[in-house]
Amino acid sequence: MKRVLLIVGGGIAAYKACELVRLLRRRGHGVRCVLTDGAQHFVTPMTLAALSEDQVYTTLWDLKDEAEMGHIQLSRQADLVVVAPATADLLAKMAAGLADDLATTLLLATDKPVLAAPAMNVRMWTHAATVRNVAQLRADGVTVLEPDEGAMACGEYGPGRLPEPAAIAAAIDAALAPAPRPLAARHVLVSAGPTHEPIDPVRYIANRSSGKQGFAIARALAAAGARVTLVAGPVALATPPGVTRVDVETAKEMAAAVDAALPADAAVMVAAVADWRVEVAPQKVKKGAAAPALTLVENPDILAGLAASPRRPRLLVGFAAETEQVVGQAVAKRARKGIDWIVANDVSADVFGGDANAVTLVTAEGVETWDRASKQQVADRLAERIATALLT
Ligand code: C5P
Repeated sequence: MKRVLLIVGGGIAAYKACELVRLLRRRGHGVRCVLTDGAQHFVTPMTLAALSEDQVYTTLWDLKDEAEMGHIQLSRQADLVVVAPATADLLAKMAAGLADDLATTLLLATDKPVLAAPAMNVRMWTHAATVRNVAQLRADGVTVLEPDEGAMACGEYGPGRLPEPAAIAAAIDAALAPAPRPLAARHVLVSAGPTHEPIDPVRYIANRSSGKQGFAIARALAAAGARVTLVAGPVALATPPGVTRVDVETAKEMAAAVDAALPADAAVMVAAVADWRVEVAPQKVKKGAAAPALTLVENPDILAGLAASPRRPRLLVGFAAETEQVVGQAVAKRARKGIDWIVANDVSADVFGGDANAVTLVTAEGVETWDRASKQQVADRLAERIATALLT
């Protein structure tokens, strides 16, 4: 029996939580309900206790509940935590990590996957704060369902309705199904982001890489069961769940971190490593009559170094960001660097910092152009290919 901890938020859609409990019980799942203060204005603990055939929890401050169960234990006994309806307020508290009642404390203390089914007024759903909170929660690994579109209790029309209980139950079943972990017991090394090459103690040379594609790849590989070491240049991104992250600044630091992370079964070098570093001035360079000359020194090519190393991972994947003759350059680069695959992307358009990417995969077998997709979809597809390659 799978166990669901259902957190019911305070919105008019809370009545649909009753139907959801019934559907989950019918599927044979155990359901334990937690109601926020707001939720109790819409449904009673008695109703949910009867439907779930279990005790219902409402407060942090019940000594009897705490002695018998303990809120940490309550948050971890489930296989999945579901928030339905997830109000704008609950989503905001989850995104910020607040814990000021039983529901939010459980959500912060849990080590289990969390699925949220939002329900709120259309303007609240499309408000910049909610959009930001939902993006943050998704980056943190929470599954946030899309709300339905339609007429709302408040008389307005648009997205914000709680998805139908049957749709939430189906999403719960998908989340409870054991995910295939084809890369279990494999170690994959990923590099991501730009490098910063100091000019003097206050200035540096950098590039426009956001790290999003590399982080998405690390996330996909970890989800496929791999042990992932992510060597990250300076980026403003959350570490994907289950990934070991090593932060570096310069290309030389990245080379050392990559070396320290070996051995690995595969390496996916997504980082936009600076080709040159500067001979660093010991003090801040002052404005003077003549512009200072920067002396550039070539950085080590980490990927080519890995390819030539006796500890070469079995599968070596490089990236090639180009602004012209993308595929031709990638084919040549694959051969020159001695690597197995190269993922070429045309960065002349809107790739840097964006969420979508159009790539071409170049392997020994040939050239495949993939449809433009989100960086996470590109990552999932690449992780699948890596799993197939490592398993054969
Ligand atoms: O030669 P180019 O910089 O275009 O090659 C890009 C590929 O090589 C990427 O996979 C990048 O991570 C890797 N690279 C590297 N070390 C460098 C330069 C690039 O690992 N110094």
